[in-house]
Amino acid sequence: MRKLTYFIACSIDGFIGDPGGDASAMVRFVDEEFFEYLRTEYPETLPTHGRRALGLDDLPNKRFDTVIQGRASYDLALKEGITSPYAHLREFVASRTLTESPDPNVEIVSDDLVGRVRELKAEDSPYDIYLCGGSRVAGELAGEIDEMVIKTYPIVLGTGMPMFSAAFPVVEFTLESTRTFRNGAVVRTYSRRR
Ligand SMILES: NC(=O)c1ccc[n+]([C@@H]2O[C@H](COP(=O)([O-])OP(=O)(O)OC[C@H]3O[C@@H](n4cnc5c(N)ncnc54)[C@H](OP(=O)(O)O)[C@@H]3O)[C@@H](O)[C@H]2O)c1
Repeated sequence: MRKLTYFIACSIDGFIGDPGGDASAMVRFVDEEFFEYLRTEYPETLPTHGRRALGLDDLPNKRFDTVIQGRASYDLALKEGITSPYAHLREFVASRTLTESPDPNVEIVSDDLVGRVRELKAEDSPYDIYLCGGSRVAGELAGEIDEMVIKTYPIVLGTGMPMFSAAFPVVEFTLESTRTFRNGAVVRTYSRRR
């Protein structure tokens, strides 16, 4: 069974963005050292347009071959005219309002999101599944998350969008690794205790 990994950026106080979800305050921490980490360890989490702009189109996938995001997160790309923000992955967008996919690489999941994710996890693949967010989809899929990679940037937002917006029972995770960066960012990897 392959893993569903919630790979997410947050503040020290655990918010993934301001109350509207805007995470732009975190972008400045993706400096040379941190970018190099993403490029070498999680190249598939860099969006296609960013990779293209940096001449990194051909970076092979390392951890994931599939991405899942909510419609509100996908909307950020659509607003920029980008219909396939992770063209190097199979893309799934959870939505009950998008009736037709804007892109052949994007499959809309409107019904039984948990069931579809279970099917994807049961597929035979050496790669895991990248849960991109946002908060609501992560909340809906909380029970399916096997691993969390939490990029914590050294800022406090005070209020904002939580990592999960849904009732969530107490679930234990095991800390697998921690990596610190010169700019104060910390990446923690947790696996779920089953
Ligand atoms: N810090 C980070 O690393 C990071 C990463 C990703 C996103 N974000 C932020 O997260 C924000 C968006 O988060 P969000 O919580 O507002 O929205 P979201 O989780 O991205 O999307 C919510 C939408 O997903 C659809 N959905 C949710 N559950 C579903 C289900 N069970 N079946 C079918 N569709 C379902 C619904 O779409 P419909 O309304 O179309 O039905 C719902 O409105 C963005 O502003 C983004 O900046 C931050």
